[in-house]
Amino acid sequence: MQERLKELQTEALEKISTAADLKELNDIRVSYLGKKGPITEVLKGMGKLSAEERPKMGALANEVRDSIAAGIEQKQKHHEEAAVKQKLAAEKIDVTLPGRPVKTGNHHPLTRIIEEIEDLFIGMGYTVAEGPEVEKDYYNFEALNLPKGHPARDMQDSFYITEEILLRTHTSPVQARTMEKHEGKGPVKIICPGKVYRRDNDDATHSHQFMQIEGLVVDENIRMTDLKGTLEVFAKKMFGDDREIRLRPSFFPFTEPSVEMDISCKICGGKGCSVCKGTGWIEILGAGMVHPNVLEMAGFDSKKYTGFAFGMGPERIAMLKYGVDDIRHFYTNDVRFLKQFSIHE
Ligand code: DAH
Repeated sequence: MQERLKELQTEALEKISTAADLKELNDIRVSYLGKKGPITEVLKGMGKLSAEERPKMGALANEVRDSIAAGIEQKQKHHEEAAVKQKLAAEKIDVTLPGRPVKTGNHHPLTRIIEEIEDLFIGMGYTVAEGPEVEKDYYNFEALNLPKGHPARDMQDSFYITEEILLRTHTSPVQARTMEKHEGKGPVKIICPGKVYRRDNDDATHSHQFMQIEGLVVDENIRMTDLKGTLEVFAKKMFGDDREIRLRPSFFPFTEPSVEMDISCKICGGKGCSVCKGTGWIEILGAGMVHPNVLEMAGFDSKKYTGFAFGMGPERIAMLKYGVDDIRHFYTNDVRFLKQFSIHE
C-alpha cells in the first residue's frame, strides 16, 4: 500500500510538471484527488490494515495528497503568471503614437455674434427677453403705433396665419409685451434676440427668415444722449475703437424721433468704396426714442417715463465683421463655410 501511494505520488508529480495548461492541471486534480481517484481507492483498503499501521498509512496518504495538491497549485500559479505575461505582451500599446484627431463642431457664426452682443449688453445691466415667433397682429403692429391700414405696415411684408395672427416681422413686439408685464413701472432694460419672418424674395441681402436683436430701455429721464452713448459703446466694442458712428434722422412709427446709425467704413477709412457704396458710412441699425403712444398703450405714463429702443440684424453685423458677401451662407450651412468660424483651428 505504501509503495502504491508513493508510486501514485511520483506519477502525479511527473504529470504535473509536464502539464501544458490550466485545463490539463485540473484534469490531473480530478483524476488523482477526486472521490473516484486512485488514492481514495487505495485508502478503501485501510480497513484490512492493523491498528498500528493504519495511522501511519493515513498520515502517508495525507502527505501524498498534500504534495500533489501543492504541486498542482504551484504549477497553476506558474501558468497563470505566464498567461498574464502573454496577455500584456500581446496587448502592449505604444503610448507615444499620436492620437487620431476628433472632429469637433463649432458655434454657428450667427450664434457667436448674438452671444457676443448679449454679453455686451448683459454687462451694461440688461436682461435677455424672449417672445413668440407666431405673434398677434396687436403686438407686432398695433401696440407699436401701427394701426390697421397704416401705410408703414407695407415696410414689412408679412406672412399672415389668420387676420389677427402672423409670423412676427420684427422683434419689436417683445418691447410691447415686456412693457405690458411691467405694469407701468420702470425701469425696463432688455435685449431680445430672435427669428423674424418677411415675405421677401431671397437674394444676397434678403431672406424670408432672418434674425433681429431688439433693445429697449424705459425709465425716468431717459434721453437721446443715453441712446447715442449706448450705441457708441456697442459699435466700438463690435467693430473696433477706431470706428466712428453717426445718427441720421429716419422714420419708424414706434419711435419719435427716429434715427438710423451708421459706422464709418473700415475698408476705405471713410473715403468711399464699393462696400459703403461710395459714402464712407455703413448703416447698422434703426433706433429712436419710444413713441409716447407706444408707452401709453403698454400702460406707462408717458409724462413720467421716457425710453429708447433699437433694432439690428445680426446677419448684417456678421457679414460686415467677417466679410461675408451673401446672407444665404448663414442658412445653407455648408461645412466649408461654417468651419471658418471655428475657434479651435
Ligand atoms: N423693428 C425695426 C425693423 O424691423 C427695427 C427697429 C427700428 C427697432 C427702430 C427698434 C427701433 O426698436 O427703435 O425694421
